[in-house]
Amino acid sequence: MENKGISKKIIITLRINVDFFNQFAQDVQQGLSASAKYLSSKYFYDTVGSQLFQNIMELPEYYLTACEYEILQTHQTELGKYLAAGVDGFELLELGAGDGLKTKILLRNFLQNNYHFRYLPVDISPSALHNLTEDLHKNLPNLTVQPLVSEYFVALSQLPASADTRKVVLFLGSNLGNFNHTQALFFLQSLRQGLQKGDLLLIGLDLQKQPDLILAAYNDSQGVTKAFNLNLLQRINRELGANFDLANFMHYPLYDPYEGCAKSFIISKLAQEIYIEQLACRFELGAWEAIHTEVSYKYTLSGIAQLARQSGFVVKQNFLDHRSYFCDSLWEAI
Ligand code: AVJ
Repeated sequence: MENKGISKKIIITLRINVDFFNQFAQDVQQGLSASAKYLSSKYFYDTVGSQLFQNIMELPEYYLTACEYEILQTHQTELGKYLAAGVDGFELLELGAGDGLKTKILLRNFLQNNYHFRYLPVDISPSALHNLTEDLHKNLPNLTVQPLVSEYFVALSQLPASADTRKVVLFLGSNLGNFNHTQALFFLQSLRQGLQKGDLLLIGLDLQKQPDLILAAYNDSQGVTKAFNLNLLQRINRELGANFDLANFMHYPLYDPYEGCAKSFIISKLAQEIYIEQLACRFELGAWEAIHTEVSYKYTLSGIAQLARQSGFVVKQNFLDHRSYFCDSLWEAI
């Protein structure tokens, strides 16, 4: 009770760090103890993983980024008109902003058109968000930026609650694809609750296509996606003091055209025992036992319209690239 203000602050800071640290440890413990092992794809994005994802976006096989870039490049003016129509200004919130390469097309256009807006990028990776903010200060000095390091759900609760300013949410890059259908619906419905009627969501979704093209995007010839997937084990080594030997694991992606879903696994090439110091725990992996690490759902235009309706939105317009590989779907909250 006699604590001075300063020691209270220190205690609070420590508790936040410990909680965050525990969450990763707890999730790893749970996922590796399950009979069908899994690790959450949200843990890909430490500093190394965020850099590897940047490299993935430049791969010839990873068509998603180039397609969305083309869409935003082609339709930037039309999109801007939708966003700015009938209001003095808007809040532009981006979930999973990453390096902001695609978003900068829109930001530049909106500044040139003198639209009145603030940019609120949210990302789980402090390093990615730091780089983005530096880059924007340098290259778009007139832009008002308010970055937030956070998971999606935490960010939703922080949405500015002003009813009089239109909110526009960007959720690009097929990031929704990491959620299964139930999770996606829950997420979109939660997002809708933070919005008012007339607010907008621009959501980038990868479309179902020739299965080999999809599989290749998750199994590139340079092995960058393999490194990205296996970095999850390295992260456990680094942060939780585990002894995974990456040479004993393989990257195994597959595409299920029935479900419209690319799945990634890490497979143990031999029977082995892993020790994780921070958990004081041993885990046994059988020969060819798999750890499920990611789902990347692919959509149809009718599925997108249904998803919008089920979560309290209506599709205003779909914007597709010239090969119809990818869709940026503009939704309005109803
Ligand atoms: C950032 C979730 C959209 O699922 O395509 C890329 C992540 N994983 N290669 C995707 C990823 C493997 C990516 N998302």
